[in-house]
Order: sequence, then C-alpha cells, then structure tokens
Amino acid sequence: MSTATPAEPLRVVVLVSGTGTNLQALLDAQGASDPTGRKGYAVVAVGADRPGTGGEERAAGRGIPTFTVRLADYPTREEWDRALLENVSAHTPDLVVLAGFMKLIGPEFLRTHPTINSHPALLPSFPGAHGVRDALAHGVKVTGCTIFWVDDGVDTGAIIDQRAVRVAAGDTEETLHERIKVEERVMFVETVRGLAADRAAWLT
Ligand code: GRF
Repeated sequence: MSTATPAEPLRVVVLVSGTGTNLQALLDAQGASDPTGRKGYAVVAVGADRPGTGGEERAAGRGIPTFTVRLADYPTREEWDRALLENVSAHTPDLVVLAGFMKLIGPEFLRTHPTINSHPALLPSFPGAHGVRDALAHGVKVTGCTIFWVDDGVDTGAIIDQRAVRVAAGDTEETLHERIKVEERVMFVETVRGLAADRAAWLT
C-alpha cells in the first residue's frame, strides 16, 4: 500500500476482463480536482486475466502500464492468486477497482488491497455472473447497478452506491445492460472521486 497524502492523487489499479468502457470513463475523469482542490485519483496500472482485452488496449494507448495474469499459466488457483497480488502490489495502489473483472479475488489480496467492484444489478438482488439476465428473467421493472467493497463472498460486500435503471418493454439483456452501463460509468467515476477526496474515512 502506498503512503499517499490527501494532496496526492489516489493511486488506483484497475482490473478488467472485457471491453473496458468503465475503465475508459475512469481514465477520462482521472486527475480532475475535487471541489476542495485535492487532486483526485490516477490510474497507475491496468491488469487483465486474459490477453487482448479492449481494456488493456485503452490503457496502453494512454501510456499506462498494463499486465496480464492468465489462470491457464499457473498450475494452481493459489499460485494465480499470488501472481495477481504480486503484479498489482508492484504498482503500490491505494485502491484496486474491478471494472468488469470476471474472476474472484483471493483472501490475501483482499487483506492487502482495499478493492471495489461494480455489479450490473441492485444488490443484494441478482448476484453472480448474470445479473442483467436474471433480473430480466424475473420480470423486475427497475434494476440498476451497485458499487461495493469486495469481500470473500460473491457480490456480498458493503454497498457504497447504487443507481436505478427502469426496464423498458422489449428490452433484451444487451439493450438493458447498455443502459445500465451508462449509469455505471457515472457511478464509478463519482465513487472513485469520492473515495479519493475522503480517503481518511477508509484508507488505513
Ligand atoms: C459491467 O457492467 C460490469 O458491472 C460487469 O461487466 C461490465 C463490464 O463492462 N461485471 P466494461 O468492460 O467496463 O464495458
């Protein structure tokens, strides 16, 4: 963990598995001052669990260091956990952001790095890998997205923020997820800015 003071940007490592539009929103907003004049946050590295993610490309295009830690390259899950931890720790983050990272994070990692995740449903409803599909199948009229502190459960950690999105007639999983992601990107930026501005409340 770094020793960033409030005058320095919060050091953020982002982990991705996919296209990285939430990462893009975080990259676009980084460095902006918060209303008290403090510096906000900086994405200091982006990691992925598979090669060729759009997320890594977006980071590399901005000269931000990237790394890939593939599960298939390690004989056990524990060794992959350790490799992920080492790669992330090398960038001394204050905060790790999971932005569409589709792997569970090991307990030692979570003891070492405060980590947040976003889920495309209103937790505690519809946790797991298919939150949008499950909400749609249930017939809810309002769903949304949730940012939470990652703990050792699946989408069970303390909720930081949520945004509601109405389900439209004729929505498919794809159309609904796209509208949720519009809200999710705004929520991600506001949450990380908020955590950067008020780090005394959570950063020990
Ligand atoms: C987000 O909706 C996230 O909540 C889910 O996967 C999506 C990632 O989107 N786990 P992107 O890669 O940031 O575009």
